[in-house]
Amino acid sequence: KPNRDLEGKKVLITAGPTRESLDPVRFITNHSSGKMGYSLAEAAVERGADVTLISGPTNLSPPMGVRLIKINTTLDMYNAVMKNYIDQHIIIKSAAVADYRPETVSTTKIKKNEGNLTLTLVRNPDILKELGCLKEDRVLVGFAAESDNVIENAKGKINRKNLDFIVANDITEEGAGFGTDTNIVNIIDKNGEIEKVEKSSKREIAHRILDKAKKFIK
Ligand code: PMT
Repeated sequence: KPNRDLEGKKVLITAGPTRESLDPVRFITNHSSGKMGYSLAEAAVERGADVTLISGPTNLSPPMGVRLIKINTTLDMYNAVMKNYIDQHIIIKSAAVADYRPETVSTTKIKKNEGNLTLTLVRNPDILKELGCLKEDRVLVGFAAESDNVIENAKGKINRKNLDFIVANDITEEGAGFGTDTNIVNIIDKNGEIEKVEKSSKREIAHRILDKAKKFIK
C-alpha cells in the first residue's frame, strides 16, 4: 500500500524544456524529455499530494490525477508559475528553462542570404530566483544541470536563489541527466548536507527528493 504521507499537501512541479521561437518555423530549445519532472509528479500523486504540473512540450502522457498546464516559452512558464505558486507547500523546478530568448520573433519565415546570420538573444526572467524572493514558508527545490564543478556550482545556486535544497546532476555522466530513464544526483541542502544517490530510476530519485522536501515543510 503506498505511503500517503503527502495527503493535504500542494506540490507544484515544472518539467520539460522551453521553446523560444525565432519565426513561424524555428525555435531554440534543449534536450529535456520531461522524464524527471513527470516522475516527480507521478510519485507525488501516489503519495496523496495535490499536484500541479507545468510542462514544456514533451512526448509523455501526463500522470493520472495531476493538473497539467502546458506551456511553450520561458515567459509562458513564468506566468503559469506566478499564477499558481501562492498556496503551494512544495515547489520543485526540474524544468530546463531557456535563459535567453530571441530579441524579436519574426512573423514571417526568416529568409537566407549569402552572409552569416546573427541572432540577438535577451535574458529571460529567472523563475526560480524570483520564487526565492517570494519564498515565505514554501519548500523550494531547484535542479542544477552541470557539466563541470557540479557541487560547487550547485551550492552557489542554493544561496543565490534562496532554496531549501538543490538536486545536482552531472549531465556528462552515463545514465544521468537529459532523456535517460535513470539519473545520478547529489541532493545538497542549505545546511550543507549532501546526499549522493547512485544511478537509480528517475522514479526512485523522485521519491528521495520528496522524502527530503517533507523534512523542510514548516
Ligand atoms: O527532462 P529529462 O530528460 O528527464 O532531464 C532532466 C533534467 C536534466 C532536465 C533535470 O534533471 C534538470 O537538471 N533540470 C534543470 C535543468 C536546468 O535548467 O538547470 P540550470 O542549472 O540551468 O537551472 C537551475 C535551476 O533554475 C533549475 O531548477 C531551473 O528550472 C531554474 N531556472 C533556470 C533558468 C531560468 N530562467 N529560470 C529558472 O527557474
